[in-house]
Amino acid sequence: MKLLLCCCLLVISTLADDYAVSTRRFPKNFKWGTASAAYQVEGGWNADGKGENVWDTYTHLYPEKSNYQNGDVTSDHYNKWQEDVDLLAGLGVNTYRFSIAWSRVLPTGFVNSSNPGGIAFYKNLIAALKEKNIEPLVTMHHWDLPTNLENLGGFLNPAIQEWFLDYARFLFETFGDDVKNWVTFNEPKQTCEQGYGIGILAPYIVGPGVKNYQCGHNLLIAHGKAYRMYENEFKGKQGGRVTMVVDSNWFEPASDSADDIGAAETNLLFTYGWFAHPINFGDYPDIMKQRIAYRSKLEGFNKSRLPSFTEKEKEILRGTADFMCVNIYTSSMVSAIPEPEIIPLSPTRDLDIGTNAYQPDDWEATITDWFKVVPWGARKLLNWIDVTYNHPEIIVTENGYHDNGTVIHDLDTRGRYYKLYLSNMQDALYKDGVNLTGYMAWALTDDFEWQYGYSIQLGLYQIDFTDPDRPRTPKDSAGYYRQVVTTRCLVDDDQCTD
Ligand SMILES: *[C@@H]1O[C@H](CO)[C@@H](O)[C@H](O)[C@H]1NC(C)=O
Ligand SMILES: *[C@@H]1O[C@H](CO)[C@@H](O)[C@H](O)[C@H]1NC(C)=O
Ligand SMILES: *[C@@H]1O[C@H](CO)[C@@H](O)[C@H](O)[C@H]1NC(C)=O
Ligand SMILES: *[C@@H]1O[C@H](CO)[C@@H](O)[C@H](O)[C@H]1NC(C)=O
Repeated sequence: MKLLLCCCLLVISTLADDYAVSTRRFPKNFKWGTASAAYQVEGGWNADGKGENVWDTYTHLYPEKSNYQNGDVTSDHYNKWQEDVDLLAGLGVNTYRFSIAWSRVLPTGFVNSSNPGGIAFYKNLIAALKEKNIEPLVTMHHWDLPTNLENLGGFLNPAIQEWFLDYARFLFETFGDDVKNWVTFNEPKQTCEQGYGIGILAPYIVGPGVKNYQCGHNLLIAHGKAYRMYENEFKGKQGGRVTMVVDSNWFEPASDSADDIGAAETNLLFTYGWFAHPINFGDYPDIMKQRIAYRSKLEGFNKSRLPSFTEKEKEILRGTADFMCVNIYTSSMVSAIPEPEIIPLSPTRDLDIGTNAYQPDDWEATITDWFKVVPWGARKLLNWIDVTYNHPEIIVTENGYHDNGTVIHDLDTRGRYYKLYLSNMQDALYKDGVNLTGYMAWALTDDFEWQYGYSIQLGLYQIDFTDPDRPRTPKDSAGYYRQVVTTRCLVDDDQCTD
């Protein structure tokens, strides 16, 4: 790692302003794309035999938890997919990351319920993409578990390992001749911490410090089993690759003291490492195992709240990422604090981490409190992944800027965000030697943004959600992204260097 973790903070926090954007072109074979998720864009929530997923069910039951809005229609990609493929072709991208809605192809979640209408939708989409030379990068689970499976315990039931295995086999059989890059799970930390821990994402289960880890454990083993099944049954004939998408902030030590550096590392390991360590090394990071066991005992639990893998499970999991993926949006500063108070039988993941993570007020703000614009953090996070996981191939599978969705002339906000983040990522690639091979902008179009409903937006194309036709209007950033993709360069073509 060529970056120093402990440079002076003042220098870093002003970097964005006087930072010189790279004029170099990205490599010729770089993967450029945009990313989306089924529930956020498709709509057609009960069309053509689709079953309900937890987002359908729980946004209907608890509308107040998602700004009184839902994804019943959203961007209507289910009907407007051909137009969206044309938009992708117009941007010049060579890759499109999207997810398959489990309950659209298997309405009950089980393979004996397969739905021809849902299968046809994805077959048509994939064929249209390939016709335009756009490679699909397909996520199997982007938070939308079939409700039938949730009713059987969802990710808290170890049977999810077999349900997912069957679903994955069905996907490889059905789409695997055309799809060569598979993601099992998207952002499992959000599925488990926000869905089963603090309970702010569907299915809104509250089980902090316990159910979040049980969810993660079952999800990880499900991933490992699906990876091995692909390896054994499909890889030979289909020749594709399988991985997981893990998201993380960069966590910057608040000072160059050993304690703060350690506290920042602890956050990285509890966030990216929670999932990336098991799929690379076969087990959770030591610090997670140690801290959760330690606090569990003092809290009165008779064993660690973090489940442990059997030797067989470790073997299944070790080396189950054919390349690494990361979703990068923002960063945090971290300082060490004294061990947080023990509250009997009342754990949380934050207490398990036991640090002070925060975003300084002088970092550039957006309209939500957790999202500051911190371009240099992207370079550092990529370097950390490179070092920690022994120089893997890395694809940035999400990155983007959110506002309230009304701004069409967004070059100074979204366009600038893309320019500065991509320039820092390119520095990771060229200056630091990180094997970054692709970048997926979030997102092609405006969409349903989970707990925020439609109140925050990240699209390159604006959608008027009050118009039944859901017209797509290019924002200025779409033109900029098209320029970046087609010239492989962040500045005007005549200033680009090889
Ligand atoms: C489908 O499979 C599930 C899980 O194995 C089973 O419980 C269910 O009875 C099956 N349904 C039908 C119609 O065969
Ligand atoms: C240990 O925990 C389990 C699950 O909470 C509980 O059923 C059991 O009684 C506990 N055993 C002891 C010895 O406390
Ligand atoms: C980057 O990863 C790709 C795919 O695994 C590999 O072919 C290539 O050699 C790697 N490049 C570097 C510089 O490590
Ligand atoms: C959305 O944000 C823009 C730019 O910050 C602002 O001018 C506009 O008033 C906002 N609109 C709403 C409805 O909040």
